[in-house]
Amino acid sequence: MNKKSLYINMPKKIYIRTFGCQMSLRDSEFVAGLLLDDGFTLANSIAGADIILFNSCSVRKHAEDRLISNISDLKLLKKKRPDIVIGLMGCTAQAYKDKILDRLPILDFSCGPGNESDIPKIIKDIMENRCGIVATDKINDKRPEIFPEYRQDRFRAYVSIGEGCNNFCSYCIVPYTRGRERFREIKDILKEVKDLAKRGFKEIMLLGQNVNSYMNPSRNLTAYSSKPTAKKSDFVRLLEALNAVKGIERIRFMTSHPKDASADLFKAMRDLEKVCEHLHLPLQAGSNRILKLMNRGYSAEKYLKLAGEYKKYVPEGSITTDIIVGFPSETREDFGNTVKMVEGVGFDGAYMFKYSPRPPAKSVKLKDDVGQKEKEDRLNILLNLQREISLNRNKLLNGKAVEVLVCDLHKKDNNVLTGRTRTNKVVVLGGSSDMISKFVNVKIESVTPHALRGRIV
Ligand code: SAH
Ligand code: SF4
Ligand code: F3S
Repeated sequence: MNKKSLYINMPKKIYIRTFGCQMSLRDSEFVAGLLLDDGFTLANSIAGADIILFNSCSVRKHAEDRLISNISDLKLLKKKRPDIVIGLMGCTAQAYKDKILDRLPILDFSCGPGNESDIPKIIKDIMENRCGIVATDKINDKRPEIFPEYRQDRFRAYVSIGEGCNNFCSYCIVPYTRGRERFREIKDILKEVKDLAKRGFKEIMLLGQNVNSYMNPSRNLTAYSSKPTAKKSDFVRLLEALNAVKGIERIRFMTSHPKDASADLFKAMRDLEKVCEHLHLPLQAGSNRILKLMNRGYSAEKYLKLAGEYKKYVPEGSITTDIIVGFPSETREDFGNTVKMVEGVGFDGAYMFKYSPRPPAKSVKLKDDVGQKEKEDRLNILLNLQREISLNRNKLLNGKAVEVLVCDLHKKDNNVLTGRTRTNKVVVLGGSSDMISKFVNVKIESVTPHALRGRIV
């Protein structure tokens, strides 16, 4: 349907600023796609835009504060150009619901993740009636199976396999912003991926807050598995189905939850040739007492066993993690257990954060009693340790040849490219822009904690 006529004489250029995780990036891309299909165009900067959208993240206080100050910075612009539409989408919109328009009166609308497919209509309503709109009622709805053509990248695509989270880790706001867990049908995911393959996409990244709890809603599984056995999880069957899609060469996924991951996943990573050997398995803490307070559903011992199993099945694979320091009541001894885990597992990389209370997440009831300075010290200890471990892990690749998908030109030098190994490590190599989107074999000649450097062989 061509709806372009709807927007004649109306503001046309849209700019979206994204905060948050891959889900949030995918949502921005989706909304941009909807708006492009409706006749809008994309602006390169806030200055050139008629509609400014902030896609928000509330996972840590720092992220939220930055967002709020970025929006507040537009006060002057809005005064000069009252016709501009400023909207909020994403997790912060859902977290604050109606209250956000009181806190940020320059917003014309605020729209939660579940309502995002209504954004073109919301914008049209604003342009016609100029009154604030809050749309957060669809937090638990299944998203419509609509796929605008627009994608940020030409050969790598995010594919959401579901929404929401039922885990209620005590520190985490996500179940309150993304609602209850609900998944898409294998057949629908397969259709999206086949379409992407036809358009020349080579790599897909499957997204979910906890991909290991994936369940095909219709329970119709046998059609998607050559050798159906009771032991295989639905997620593994999904991987098997996607592995058969012609044209797709790499399949990635995140996030895996340690309480639901098991050997069948690692076997699939070993056996399915397109599934990349990278596991993101958030640990969060190494002390069993803290893990319990966090409501994570596993012990340090279980995590170690799982990581050991992964390494047994996928010995060349990489493993990365997330860690929170300074959770309420975390003692130096508790923290020492996290340090031991980091040393014991040998992560290739880790995202590490200082705890911040996120109401209405349950942990706000616990006193945030680890001081800022202490949190910072603990974070620095871990960052330094991890840097050394990442370096040692990368050194194992020195002199080896690895398959690299060339992704970008280097930001600072047009004769240098960056790419990714199957294990998701960044590789810096010499070459020209026509190699972007191609697979090449690279011999690694030097390494840093965050990247490998090499030449094509
Ligand atoms: N679904 C994913 C992660 C979602 S949020 C999972 O289960 O792992 C990404 C990361 O942010 C989390 O893994 C956690 O390490 C961090 N995080 C979440 N809430 C936080 C909080 N209140 N303070 C600090 N870090 C937090
Ligand atoms: Fe948050 Fe836990 Fe769900 Fe991850 S699994 S999104 S950390 S509640
Ligand atoms: Fe992602 Fe942030 Fe929401 S991490 S799920 S955008 S709170």
